[in-house]
Amino acid sequence: MSTEASIRAADTRAEARALSAAATMAGHAPSIHNTQPWRWRLTSNELSLYLDHSRAAEVTDPDSRLAVLSCGAALHHALVSLAADGWHTILARMPDPAHPDHLARLRLDHRIPVGLEARRHRQTIGLRHTDRRPTGGTPVGTEELNAIVGAAESAGAGLHILRPDQVLELAGAADQAQRAENADAAWQAEVNYWTGGTRPLGSGIPDAAIPARATQTTVPGGDFGHLGDLPVSAEHENVATFAILYGPEDGEIGWLRAGEALSASWLTATELGLSVLPLSATIEVTVTRERIRRLLAGLGHPYLVLRLTTGDPAGSAAPHTPRLPADQVIERF
Ligand SMILES: Cc1cc2nc3c(=O)[nH]c(=O)nc-3n(C[C@H](O)[C@H](O)[C@H](O)COP(=O)(O)O)c2cc1C
Repeated sequence: MSTEASIRAADTRAEARALSAAATMAGHAPSIHNTQPWRWRLTSNELSLYLDHSRAAEVTDPDSRLAVLSCGAALHHALVSLAADGWHTILARMPDPAHPDHLARLRLDHRIPVGLEARRHRQTIGLRHTDRRPTGGTPVGTEELNAIVGAAESAGAGLHILRPDQVLELAGAADQAQRAENADAAWQAEVNYWTGGTRPLGSGIPDAAIPARATQTTVPGGDFGHLGDLPVSAEHENVATFAILYGPEDGEIGWLRAGEALSASWLTATELGLSVLPLSATIEVTVTRERIRRLLAGLGHPYLVLRLTTGDPAGSAAPHTPRLPADQVIERF
């Protein structure tokens, strides 16, 4: 083989390795009920992301808005991995209108210097997790909130921090959503399918990540209507900040970008030592989603509610949830 040909072959192998690492890294992303509703198709020079309906929560999320949002978070994780490997990536969102489940296509363009933020974010991917415990610590500071809002905006969605009077309206909407869902037998069956137990097959939420006792919270959510094994130290959560992730479009592109923004803001929050809890019940129920939209007063469509806290200083870190084996979500060609 000529020198030129062997350099080309080495480049091709490096590209294939970077794309494979990105798809693997994306598996750490947060998803609704830990369904991991994504599928990656990997060739030597291209990575495509698909929505996998077989793992979507059809009752909770009939339009797949939260599943697409989850895929957006996985997409952002993949982009972080590629940037940390020194690649400038060409990204096409919804590249094939005839196939709306084809959510994104990534191709490597050229090498770039590796920035500190990309390296830090790649490390943080393995540390980020959902903590459902109530906290009684100190409130999140303004500078930290600005950093989190900035991270969401730079990844393509707004993050509106709620005033105390708006939190009361959110609490009312969350209570209404929870009552509507609890009264629905199909919803209960779906939640029971995805949550509780030990989850040996690698998806869903184990008891170990669900609070062991009911606590008073300003905005209800995060307990799935049943208790788990996660020890809780705070009695009441009174210092949380609530925010709404929003954007201009209530469709796949908007949901995908919201997921990218969720990942970007969550990684930033984790690096600041803060805890993020997505609360999606008010988005799942049509009437309460409309109540949340009105709270935004014309800013845009709501995608997800987030609870931001300084973490549980008295408790240990909440356990990580399981993930599906890579060969169940990555197809190699
Ligand atoms: C779109 C979306 C909606 C979510 N909604 C909730 C929710 O309402 N309540 C909750 O406790 N966790 C919620 N989560 C967190 C997931 O349950 C969590 O990401 C998943 O179980 C994986 O766990 P990990 O974040 O610790 O990796 C949501 C996550 C996403 C991406």
